[in-house]
Parts: sequence; C-alpha cells; structure tokens
Amino acid sequence: MARPESSGAGSAPLFQRMAVIGLGLIGGSLARAVREKRLAARVIGADQRTDDLRAGVELGVIDEWAPSVAEAVQGADLVVIAVPVRAMESVLAEIQPHLSGDVLLTDVGSTKTSFVQAVESVFGCWPDWVIPGHPIAGSEKSGITAATADLFEKHKVILTPSEQGDTSKLRRLTELWAGCGAMVLTMPADRHDEVLAATSHLPHLIAFSLVDTLAGESDNLDIFRYAAGGFRDFTRIASSDPIMWHDIFLSNREAVLKVIDHFTADLAGLREAIDTGDGRKLLQVFSRAKAARDHFSKMLSGQAYVTTMSQKQVTFKLQPGGSVQGDIRVPGDKSMSHRSIMLGALAEGVTEVDGFLEGEDSLATLQAFRDMGVTIEGPDNGHVRIHGVGLHGLQAPRAPLYLGNSGTAMRLFAGLLAGQAFDTELTGDESLSKRPMGRVADPLREMGAVIETAEGGRPPLKIRGGQALKGITYRMPMASAQVKSCLLLAGLYAEGETVVTEPAPTRDHTERMLQGFGYPVTREGATARVRSGGKLTGGHIDVPADISSAAFFLVAASITPGADLTLRHVGINPTRVGVLNILRQMGADITVENEREVGGEPVADLRVRHAPLKGIAIPEDQVPLAIDEFPVLFIAAVCAEGQTVLTGAEELRVKESDRIQVMADGLAELGVKTTVTGDGIVIDGGQPMASGTVDSHGDHRIAMAFSVAALRATGEITITDCANVATSFPNFRELATAVGIQLSVEESGS
Ligand code: S3P
Repeated sequence: MARPESSGAGSAPLFQRMAVIGLGLIGGSLARAVREKRLAARVIGADQRTDDLRAGVELGVIDEWAPSVAEAVQGADLVVIAVPVRAMESVLAEIQPHLSGDVLLTDVGSTKTSFVQAVESVFGCWPDWVIPGHPIAGSEKSGITAATADLFEKHKVILTPSEQGDTSKLRRLTELWAGCGAMVLTMPADRHDEVLAATSHLPHLIAFSLVDTLAGESDNLDIFRYAAGGFRDFTRIASSDPIMWHDIFLSNREAVLKVIDHFTADLAGLREAIDTGDGRKLLQVFSRAKAARDHFSKMLSGQAYVTTMSQKQVTFKLQPGGSVQGDIRVPGDKSMSHRSIMLGALAEGVTEVDGFLEGEDSLATLQAFRDMGVTIEGPDNGHVRIHGVGLHGLQAPRAPLYLGNSGTAMRLFAGLLAGQAFDTELTGDESLSKRPMGRVADPLREMGAVIETAEGGRPPLKIRGGQALKGITYRMPMASAQVKSCLLLAGLYAEGETVVTEPAPTRDHTERMLQGFGYPVTREGATARVRSGGKLTGGHIDVPADISSAAFFLVAASITPGADLTLRHVGINPTRVGVLNILRQMGADITVENEREVGGEPVADLRVRHAPLKGIAIPEDQVPLAIDEFPVLFIAAVCAEGQTVLTGAEELRVKESDRIQVMADGLAELGVKTTVTGDGIVIDGGQPMASGTVDSHGDHRIAMAFSVAALRATGEITITDCANVATSFPNFRELATAVGIQLSVEESGS
C-alpha cells in the first residue's frame, strides 16, 4: 500500500505524541516502525520492566520512556496498549484519568470482544475515540530485542471500530498502519474473534495438544527423533509463548469453544469411520479437505478465481503477425462442465465425467458441492468421479458459497438451492457482484422461494431453505439459458409442473443432460416442462471441447493468410453453432468432419483455413446461439471487407463486462473506429489495427479476442487484467503459442 501523503519524511507526522504501553515484540516493533517512518513526532514507551525501557531507548525503538503509564499517556494524541490481553482492563483503569481530550486509543491484542468489554467496564460506555486493532503478525521470538520495523510489512491489520466511531480518527489510524507497510481491514469485533478462533486459535491449541500428547508417550524420543518435515511444520506453532496463548484462550472463550466443539465432533466422526472401516467417509473428508486446501492456496497465490482478493495482475503481450497451424483440442465445454457436476451430485450413484473443464468457473461449482457434503474425486486430467447424494442429500454448507466469476454457477445454483431444506448464501468476485440476479430471483419468488439480493438485484444472494415451491408457467423476457436452467432445476423441487418458454432458442444442455440422467423433461418448440418427484441416475458424461473456446481459433485461422488448423472433438449442439453460421456467412472456410454423437451431444472435428471475409448484417436469430463469441467475431468483422452490423444483442452489456462498450473501447485504442448502438455495434471492416494497450476489464473473452487481433495488427498489443482467462481457458497461452500466436504473459503483484 502506498505511504499516505500526510506522513513520512518531509511531511507532517500523523500524530504528535504516541504512547506505547508494553514494549514486547508487537509494541516494540510498532514503536520502531512509527519512529523510522516518522509517523509520529515523538514516541514514548512505558513498561513494567525498566530494563526493557532502557533497551528501547538504546536500540532506537522509542524516543524516551516514562516512569509510569499515567505519565506516558499525558498529552498523547495516540495511545497504543500492547500488553497481554488479560492485563488490558487494569491498564485502562490506570490511564483513564490521565488521557488527553483529543486522544485516539487503540490496542494490538489478539482478541477483540474482551477489549471492548474491558473498555466498557472501565469507561462505563464505548467512547467514539477508541478503535480496537489486531496486527496479524508475529514471530517465535519475543521481547523488545526482537522488535523490527518491518514486522508488519505486507501483513494484515484488522481494526474493529464501532459503528458510531470517529471516522477521521479511523482514517488516521489506518494511515498509521498503512505507513508501517500493513494492509488494513475492518470488521466487527465479534466477527474478528470468530475468524481468529478458527484460523489461529484452534490450530495453536491442536499443535500444543498434539505435541503434549506425543511427548507423554513412552517412546517419545523415537517419535521426535524420526519426526518428518510435515510434523515439524505442523507443530512449529507449539513453541509460541505459553502465557500469551493462555491469555488468548481465556479471553476468546465463547468463539473458541464453538470451533473446538465443531472440530471434536468431526474428529470423532473420523475415528468412527476408521473404527468401522468406512472408507467412503474417509475419502469424502480427505478429498473435500484437499480441495479446500488447494482452493485456499489458489486464493493465497492470487489466481483469477479470487481476483478481488488478490493483487495479482496478469498482462498479455502480443507481437504482431504470426501463423495459425496445427491440430489441437481446446478445453471442455464450460456450460456442460457446470451441469455435469450439478446433476452428478443430485443423482443416485456414481457419475464419471471426462473432458471436464478445469477452469476457475467450473471448479467453483465443484467446490461448492464439496462444501455441501458431496464426495467428488478429481479433477484429474479432465476426469471427475462424483458420488451422487440424490435430490435430497445435500447438506448445509458452513459458509457462503463463493462462486468466483461465474454467472452460470450463481444463476443455476439459485434455482437448485431455492428448493433445499437449508439456508445458503451465494457470493462472487467483483465482476459477478455487479451482475443482475433479479432475472432469476423474481421468477423464483413467484415459485415461492425466499431470496434476498443486494441493492439493484445484485449478489450476494441469500436463499432461505425449507420453502414449499410450486411450479409456474413462465415466459422469459430475455433469451437466457441460465434463467431457463435455473427454473428447470427449481422445478425438480416444486409441486406440480414448471413450464418455461423462451423468446428464442438458447443452449439446451440442461434439458439434454437431465434426460441423459433419466429425468423426464418435455420439450415442445420454445417450451420445456419438468415435474418434481423423479430421480436422476448417475452415469457417464463425455464433455466435448467448448465451441466458445474453439471460436478464438476459428477466427484466428480465418483472418491469417496461410492458416490451416484442425480443432478436435468440438461440441456442435445446434443451440451453440451461431459462430459457425455467422463466420460461414462472412465467407469463412470451415469444414465439419467426423460428425458423431457422444453422450447425447453432437460432436465434430472442425478444419478451418484462411479465407477472405466480408461484412454482414448478423441475423438476430443467431445472436443467442453465438452469445459468448461476439468479442472475437468483432475482430473478424474488423478484418472483413465491408460493414458488419450487429443488432438485438443488448444481453452483451450484462456479461462479465459490457462487451459492446469494452470491445469498442479496446478497438479504439488500436485505432479502429466503430459505432456503438444500444443493442449492438457497427464495424467498418478493413481498418488497420495499430499497436496499443487494451483494458480487458477482467473479462476472459475480451482478453482472448484481442490476442487473436494481434495476428493482423501492425504493432505490439498489450492487454491488461487478463487473470480471468483462467476461468474458461486455463491453457490458452500454451495452445495459442502452439499454433503460432506470439503471446507472452507477464505477472506482477502478490
Ligand atoms: C450459459 C448461458 C449464457 C452464456 C454463459 C453460459 C449457460 O448466459 O453467456 O456463458 O451455461 O447457461 P445467458 O443465459 O445469460 O445468456
């Protein structure tokens, strides 16, 4: 985080006199950092141990020391209490009469409700100038001699201000911590204690307890002598300060007891599974835990899945020109991958999936089902084995289901979860949090669902369980496969018949796959119907390559002289082939070879060769059939001769980005003029594409479309914010470079 303007060398310090009560590792390190960065004009220390105070001055940790806490706080505009949590109350009582009128009082304790209680008991109320804090930093070393100015660098500091707190004081305290290099978050004190009980206090308790148990075994020497690295890593925290941890557990009693109870119940479950030879249960717990840990590592390493939480920036750099040659298979279909997990989980028996897309979006769906108690093995090279739990076998997840960037996951889940017995909350990343959910929430409410959305019908969605749904007859106002699928899934749980009519054909994977699982779905023209009371039977699903991912290469080959490329095993479901129809109408040379049916879906190999393209008026009936392919079709239009006109495509404005505007802006950066309309765009072909920097707005398909544009550009193209390419096409870079697109990837940030 950048250093605040109001602090640092050469500018006015944030505070005039900072008193630090307690010069241990944390108090000492904060004092040292504040002095070094000149965030306070003077830093005064107070501690029971005079030796530490003397050392503090000698080591340059503090400017001066005070003989008592009362003297330290007099005239101070910032007081930081850094004593053990159990000693907070007596320190507060001692300093209270001596605090100055405009003081900001904070602490650095590991538990926060205990500090709030201590403040209330001493002051008789909650003053708006008290802001509790907790830097999540530490070391196995303790004491002032271990204090370092960089202890908080890149660490989180949680502040738990009251709702009525003084906002200017909060801003100054935030700037102080940011000036020490920390990342500052705020949350309510009780939430802080729950989170820390689970993520820090319980692991410490287990480490202490495990080492203690093993140390008591008769062959303990052997146990420790032969301890492998894993044991050492796992128990490292058992050498932390016993007094401090004794304090923490007694201060955070309620939250810790709750999580210990959870853990001991789960541990007892594992014991019983081992005792009774219940391998299925062990596999379920272990694979769920492994997946959760991997998911967590991804969050920490900042992959696309959690772009809002990470600082990682992925930039594509493309050299102009290149060739398009080869024989490739793009990853599995995203829509079918989501549905294979959903229906496999709700089926009875085991479902084996091949060709599963291991992209962030479909992995989010997979993780969500694990969170609801479904055992899922894999994915392993596109192979997934789902141990279905039946339509009524899902369990309540313990936390909100995080669906990353995936609109499909959120909308389909809304329908599926509206009919469950338990409550759920669905959340997503920054882009998903802006997308409209009223289109599913409104008809679901008509069915009797109870769903709360954030303002403007946006996520998160809070879905109340235990509602009796009833079937409705619904005419969709927009052509959306997600809305249709959402209602059909809710229909599996609704009394009577659920009837959905679409204004134009949209992808029908839900209907086909339900039938593939043996669940009756009636389809007549634009209408699909389901009734509850049926069952799904597990089986095998072969997910073909995603035509939406193949589209980038269909255009790449079409616009590149000399190109000849074969794309294997591509799904050519008639509700998905708009891109083929549109490109062919523009003059593309695409042949469909080896047409066959695999698991209820038509599949073929597509051979595409360079051909001169011409602009067309895109038929509106093709729009829903090519809805995800327009970003790259716009690139085809730029390379075509004559004008291309798109109308009836307002849905493009509510995808992962406003794809009409973002494409127009990106093209403008490359010197290509377009005319944006409310529901489409007009592109005059034949305009040269120069070098430039394009902002993909975190939209995977925008990033990949401009990568294809480079084949015909005259200079280098830089595309920013590309991490989300991993949502649908994790190996895009590898395949693009394999065929001859000159793409390199740069990553920066944490
Ligand atoms: C999808 C439907 C489409 C599409 C999305 C996947 C699906 O969305 O854009 O990428 O799997 O059902 P809409 O239903 O909003 O058109």
